[in-house]
Amino acid sequence: MRLQVYKSYEELSKTTADIIINLVKSKPDAVICLASGDTPRRTCEIVAERGIRERIDFSKFTFIGLDEWVGMPKNNAGSCYYFFETLLIKPLQLSSSQVHLFDALSKNLDDECKKMDKTISEKAGIDLMVVGIGMNGHIGFNEPGVSFDNYSHVIDLDETTITVGQKYFKDAVILKQGITLGLQHLMNSKKAIVIANGTKKAAVIKQAVNGPVSSLFPASIIQEHENGYVMIDEDAATLINK
Ligand code: PGA
Repeated sequence: MRLQVYKSYEELSKTTADIIINLVKSKPDAVICLASGDTPRRTCEIVAERGIRERIDFSKFTFIGLDEWVGMPKNNAGSCYYFFETLLIKPLQLSSSQVHLFDALSKNLDDECKKMDKTISEKAGIDLMVVGIGMNGHIGFNEPGVSFDNYSHVIDLDETTITVGQKYFKDAVILKQGITLGLQHLMNSKKAIVIANGTKKAAVIKQAVNGPVSSLFPASIIQEHENGYVMIDEDAATLINK
């Protein structure tokens, strides 16, 4: 795992967007999985802005959404679906056949997981995963205590995720479960990047980078990824041993 520290959130987002765009340019049929959330928001905006301005061909890549709140309608502005729809899918005019997001309203969530795993294996795996880190060390909805061996699965949300997750919603919502790619997807991806910004993430970044690799702190698994990166701004880097 390599650690890279950037001056600001904007620099971090620009660099992350560069990595995504350069991959699409060099491998137009790349498979890319992105997280939603506050951290990757600016990255997604820059990818869309540059995609339009530079007329980059995004028509052949495969887009995978990392996770979704179980039971959340797509049109709820706090859903992961809505995030990607407004920031990437619409602006870049991605077709439904190239976009793979969990349907969190499906009556058969196990089938949703199987469908996602099948899509990823048929595409010969994920080239690039860009994920955030939760205040409890989760990646996607891989909550503390989750098995490192999981592929897509449904999981009961941790108290921290339920509390912190309210920030995405205008009105209070009941959050109980998540549907998510597993940490095996992260470990099998050809390149994995954990991004974080702000002083509020300094303690979790310290634990992810300097702490023991443990399922009690899922993001620590990035230490074992051969092509894993932790890319953060200076505020998120204040507590780590460099
Ligand atoms: P955030 O979420 O980017 O909104 O901080 C990170 C996460 O919970 O994975």
